[in-house]
Parts: sequence; structure tokens; C-alpha cells
Amino acid sequence: MSSMGTPAVVMDSGTGLTKLGFAGNDAPSWVFPTAISTRVPGSSGSKSSAPSKPSILSSASAASKISSNNVSIKRGMEDLDFYIGEEAIEAAKGPSYSLNYPIRHGQIDNWDHMERFWENSIFKYLKCEPEDHYFLLTEPPLNPPENRENTAEIMFESFSCAGLYIAVQAVLALAASWTSSKVQDRSLTGTVIDSGDGVTHVIPVAEGYVIGSAIKNIPIAGRDITLFIQSLLRDRGEPDTSLRTAERIKQEFSYVCPDMVKEFGKFDSQPEKFAQYIVETTNRAKPLTVDVGYERFLAPEIFFNPEIASSDFLTPLPEVVDQVIQASPIDVRKNLYRNIVLSGGSTMFKNFGRRLQLDLKSIVNERVHQSERLSGAKSSGVEVQVISHKRQKNAVWFGGSLLAQTNEFKSYCHTKQDYDEYGPNIVRNFSLFSVP
Ligand SMILES: Nc1ncnc2c1ncn2[C@@H]1O[C@H](COP(=O)(O)OP(=O)(O)OP(=O)(O)O)[C@@H](O)[C@H]1O
Ligand SMILES: [Mg+2]
Repeated sequence: MSSMGTPAVVMDSGTGLTKLGFAGNDAPSWVFPTAISTRVPGSSGSKSSAPSKPSILSSASAASKISSNNVSIKRGMEDLDFYIGEEAIEAAKGPSYSLNYPIRHGQIDNWDHMERFWENSIFKYLKCEPEDHYFLLTEPPLNPPENRENTAEIMFESFSCAGLYIAVQAVLALAASWTSSKVQDRSLTGTVIDSGDGVTHVIPVAEGYVIGSAIKNIPIAGRDITLFIQSLLRDRGEPDTSLRTAERIKQEFSYVCPDMVKEFGKFDSQPEKFAQYIVETTNRAKPLTVDVGYERFLAPEIFFNPEIASSDFLTPLPEVVDQVIQASPIDVRKNLYRNIVLSGGSTMFKNFGRRLQLDLKSIVNERVHQSERLSGAKSSGVEVQVISHKRQKNAVWFGGSLLAQTNEFKSYCHTKQDYDEYGPNIVRNFSLFSVP
């Protein structure tokens, strides 16, 4: 089969979740933990602790098919003894498997695990022949070039994929925001707040190029919020304080309030209105009831008042966004304030964008007033706009899907042929998409 008619594969592996599917779709077909469990050396049988073997046969036959025309393949049968995603987490509950997360704070830190994770993603989930497909993969901002080369080596040498594009996550998130009605011109200039499981990035982008010197990371993301909820549940002595329950409360009940102190007042004066929610869970087959309390609004509040989770990091997110834009070249600042785009699971809290816009506006207005007082001249003001949209949760994947479905996509990729001819360092550069 030629690769002309087949859709590109879009694969966005994050610290917590991998989003996987084919270009042209509105949403990834698979979302699963970026987790792999491998057999503990020396652990014999006890296969009973692992889930029933997945369709590993198709994977094995596909792998052997590749290895027949690729000498660098090193996978043997014993290497197939691993699980990824939810199955990995299940398997690691027994003694024979240990659980690993190959991505930390957005960056791949175990290449062997990453390769095996991708192998199963391709052969077990997508069930496609990589030589028939172009691939769009994503990377965090400021990814070292060696990481791109490692990625290319795996994709081309181990999997023989037809072509590869590695896109910066923030740029894809900007493209995803074009679906919002608030976005008037399809530009690749804006400030991206990408908050996932392991890290929150604030990334200024000008015409598709990340302004690397101005990027800031915030060490508060989804996992920290879940842990914060868990600590509140423990303090209250709830009967189930598992991470799973804390995460459910976060995703189902938490919201961002306009003012934390007022919200406490509201909560206490109308307990029947606010504290009416319960989560039913089972723990060792016993049904349990967990009350949902202040964590409804306190959990995402750690973005805006980080000191409540007593972390070492004390700068509120809106202030970080302001610092990032102020550190960017003066001629793009106006557009960076006007197009602040949200991306990732941890921006999904109700009213997250509204609060960010409000708090950032007051920081900006304060500066404008101060300079008016100093200069005596009236300023024309600064427009601050935060864009929320309906593809926000998997914005990076969706932006990749949009770009990889265009006719031009393949011309931006490096092909297997290019790779074989010029070597891994061709992937140090990719040309930028033109805005369709
Ligand atoms: N509705 C929701 N409300 C709040 N948080 C949510 C919601 N849905 C998902 N999340 C959280 O979003 C996080 C996953 O987001 P995402 O898939 O963007 O992260 P990632 O790409 O795996 O990680 P990173 O970008 O940090 O490498 C998890 O912590 C999850 O609990
Ligand atoms: Mg991500």
C-alpha cells in the first residue's frame, strides 16, 4: 500500500496521558496513561496477577515483518512481556510487574520504555503498519535537539514510518484555538497556557516561533491538585482518601471561584447549597460515601493563591503570565495579551479562563494607571483576552489533527528516505506550517 491515501497518525504523549488517533478526526481515538509495566527480573510465572494477554500476536507478527527488512531491530519475544496504559497499572498491582512513567514533567526520560510504549501504541491500539503512514509527534517547548534525534531514530529505524513531523505542543494549541468564535484571525501568535498532569507551561509564541527566553514553567499541575484534594480529604477523616477518588472530585466537582474569601463565606452560609455532593466509592468491596467540601473551589485555587497548598512556589499564575509577556519583545506584547490560549486537562475547571482574565486585567490596568500618573498622558489601554474553547482539553492533539490533515502536511515532513540518506540530524529542523 502506498502512504498517499492513508491518514497521518497523530500521537501526543504527555506526562500523564497519551492522546492517539488519526488526522482529520475531532478527538483522539485513544487516551490512556503514558505508563508501561515491565516484568520484574527474576519474577517467574505468577501470570495470574497480570491481565489476560492482549492482542500481542498481531504486534509480534508486525514486529517480525519489520525486522525482516530492517537489521537494526532488536526486539525479541521476551521484550513483548510488558503492558501499557491502564493494563500496565493493573498488571503492576501484582508482584511480577513494575510500573514506569517514561515521561517526566513533559520530557522523555526513559527511551527504552518510550520505544516499547510507542510500539504497543502503534501495533495494539492503532493497529496500523507504520511504513504506510506519516506521523505527527509532539514535543514540549525547548526540547533538546538530541531528544528529537532519539525520537526520529525510533520512528524511522525501529518502526520504519513513512514520514515524521515533530511539532511543538504550544504551536498546535494555538492552531486548535482557531475553532473558537472569539478568534478572528488565524494567527500563530499568542500566549499558550498548557497545563496537563505534570507541568504547567506559559509559552509566548510569535508567528509560530516559541520565544524561548521568555517561557516560564509553573510546578503546579493536575497531579499536584489531586494530591492537594487528597490531603484535604485526609484532614477531614473521610473514609476513602484514594487518589482515584480525589481525582474524581477534581474532575466532576471542582470550579474556580471569583474570590476565595467570599467563596468561603458563601459556603458556610449556605451549606445545603454547596456541600450537598457526595461521591460513592467502593473500598475492599465496601460501599463508602465521601462528602465533597471546600476542595470544590480550593483545589484549582492553588493556581491563583499557591500558598494555600504550602508549596515553595508562590507566584500566582496571572502574575506569571504577565511576567512572560513583559519579557517578550515589545512589538508582540499587544498580541500576546490579546490572544491567551488555554490547553490541557488542568485548564478545564469551570471559570478558569474567566478568573485568569480578570486577575491579569487588574495587574495590567494597575501598570497602565501607574504609567499614566508618571507621564501625565492618557494611555489607550491594553486588551486582555483569554480564549476558552471546546477543543481545549486535548488541544495539542486536535491542533495536530488539523494540521496533519492538510494536503501540504507531507511536504513539511522528513521522510524515511531523507532519514536514510542524511541521518538523524535532519530532524533538528522542521519548516513551519503556513497558516491554512
Ligand atoms: N475536567 C477536568 N477538570 C480538571 N482537571 C482535569 C479534567 N479533565 C482532566 N483533568 C486533568 O488533566 C490532567 C491531564 O491533562 P493532559 O492530558 O493535558 O496532561 P498531559 O499531556 O498528560 O501532561 P503534560 O502536558 O503535563 O505533559 C490530569 O491531571 C487530569 O486529572
Ligand atoms: Mg500535554
